[in-house]
Amino acid sequence: MTATSKQEKLATLFRQARVIPVLTIERLEDAAPLARALVAGGVHTMEVTLRTPVAIDAAKAIIAEVPDAIVGIGTILNADDLARAHALGVQFGISPGATPDLLKAAAASALPFAPGIATASELMQALAHGFDFVKFFPAEQSGGIKALRALAGPFPSARFCPTGGIGEANAAIWLAEPNVLAVGGSWLCPADDVRSSNWAGITAMCERTMKSLKAASR
Ligand code: 3PG
Repeated sequence: MTATSKQEKLATLFRQARVIPVLTIERLEDAAPLARALVAGGVHTMEVTLRTPVAIDAAKAIIAEVPDAIVGIGTILNADDLARAHALGVQFGISPGATPDLLKAAAASALPFAPGIATASELMQALAHGFDFVKFFPAEQSGGIKALRALAGPFPSARFCPTGGIGEANAAIWLAEPNVLAVGGSWLCPADDVRSSNWAGITAMCERTMKSLKAASR
């Protein structure tokens, strides 16, 4: 796959998804029920972060047991993480940032990938490696929508998935920006709900969010 078609595939996936839940799975047995709860609420695309010892097995379990889930791996910090993600057969990789090594490895890999950026220089590095669809992280903490608009000026080709500080209250506001394809965040899978296996609560929140986003985009 060429660099452009990889990025287009990812951009299309994210544009369709609108919201990307960021999953930090502590117990392997939560993986499939959590993914099922998200899918039942209309949220099919999800990022499993490499932040816990069970993350890789959790992603494997979701792929095997929840065929309607579209799984990506997040918190990819280096080329090894990227290779591990690719070997799992996930649909995409995403990172809170980028290093020159990671950008090089991701440009050479067939796995669709979004590096993280928070500044103009970081965005320039991402663009130089062919990544015009990036994660803006941490979005609210890095200046919010004002910062994103300022970045859009010199970089009209860049498209974003803001993540960090986004929730039910502001997701639609971010998504109204023309260069925002999707928003990411942990709000759709609160740790307390996962801990208490409140799968119905997670499904209900997903349904509410998707409904409000649909209404906002009319
Ligand atoms: C991430 O890595 O994308 C963030 O932890 C998600 O940020 P949030 O918890 O503020 O949604």
